[in-house]
Amino acid sequence: MTGTELPASLIRTLPGSAYTDPQAFAREQERIFERMWFCTVRASDLAAPGRFRTVQVGRESVLVTSDREHAVRAYLNVCRHRGARLCTEEAGEVRRTFRCSYHAWTYGLDGRLVAAPNLARMPDIDRTEYGLVPVHVREWLGYVWVCLAADPPSFEQDVIGAATERLGDPAAIDHYQADALAVGRTIRYDVRANWKLIVENFMECYHCATIHPELTGVLPEFAGGYAAQYYVGHGAEFAAGAEGFTVDGSAGVDRIPGVTAEQDRRYYAVTVKPQVFVNLVPDHVIVLRMYPLAADRTVVECDWLFLPEVVDSGRDLGPSVELFHRVNLQDFEACERCQPAMDSRAYRAGGVLVPSEHHIRSFHDWVEDRLKD
Ligand code: FES
Ligand code: FE
Repeated sequence: MTGTELPASLIRTLPGSAYTDPQAFAREQERIFERMWFCTVRASDLAAPGRFRTVQVGRESVLVTSDREHAVRAYLNVCRHRGARLCTEEAGEVRRTFRCSYHAWTYGLDGRLVAAPNLARMPDIDRTEYGLVPVHVREWLGYVWVCLAADPPSFEQDVIGAATERLGDPAAIDHYQADALAVGRTIRYDVRANWKLIVENFMECYHCATIHPELTGVLPEFAGGYAAQYYVGHGAEFAAGAEGFTVDGSAGVDRIPGVTAEQDRRYYAVTVKPQVFVNLVPDHVIVLRMYPLAADRTVVECDWLFLPEVVDSGRDLGPSVELFHRVNLQDFEACERCQPAMDSRAYRAGGVLVPSEHHIRSFHDWVEDRLKD
């Protein structure tokens, strides 16, 4: 199809190599994930001082923790002495310090170098200068977002702005009080697919009728193939017979008090580029974070957030969790089915987008634009 003109109803996708080429991926890590705000962990995972998580952000391992004042801090996970990875675990807790297991340089929760063998004999070492390298941090929706750029882009514009742009009303997402909700369930998916395939899939509903029987059962308009969720302010209405956003249409759990009458019985989806999807329904919020690890591998962590009293009560969250868990499995399986074909000569020039997918081109343009010199 290279060089041929496309019929008016079709638009070209990115070429296959954009999903497989390690150099293209390295460029995305540098120009996208290391320069933009990146959603790392749930703030409640760091509730006690010294709790930590390590997260891959672009080519860097980032250590996210909270200090003695309970303020969230993030550092490059690299010992300043000879460069050993400081924390090798994905999650854990230290009492007061991070100690490198190589020569025992030891850092406070505030990143300062607090101890090292023979440090007293090196009085000229500045404890801050040789402390951990800090990374910019913000909290929103109850998540810790980091930015590796020396001069980060506007969080208000890039991150909060995405929700405003999609929902129309800047306050609309606040009604769900995501920062005050509790994690009812987390599921981690190791997806053998390029992160862009996952974004593209999330952006269109052309596939919904084929692969999401449970979802289209609750949201009948999704069966039409048009991603109605992308019209500003529009939420997909629950089916008349569906009492809640559950796998069997059963009533869900307690509604989040701030949710308005217009938002009730509706599903809204927001994409926060480059790696976050937020799904809003009256009684819970589902947040997916992608960690792109290689051109053909993306780990996705999905949290189901409910009112804390609902989680504490031990109520059965199964029917609520199961609906989107199935959607996730169906979506990721589809992405994994595409990934190997990205290397095929049949896809060298890319594939095509039908009219209900044309808006995906704006994502492709955005990616291409970010990668330009
Ligand atoms: Fe960490 Fe030497 S590399 S103490
Ligand atoms: Fe889907």
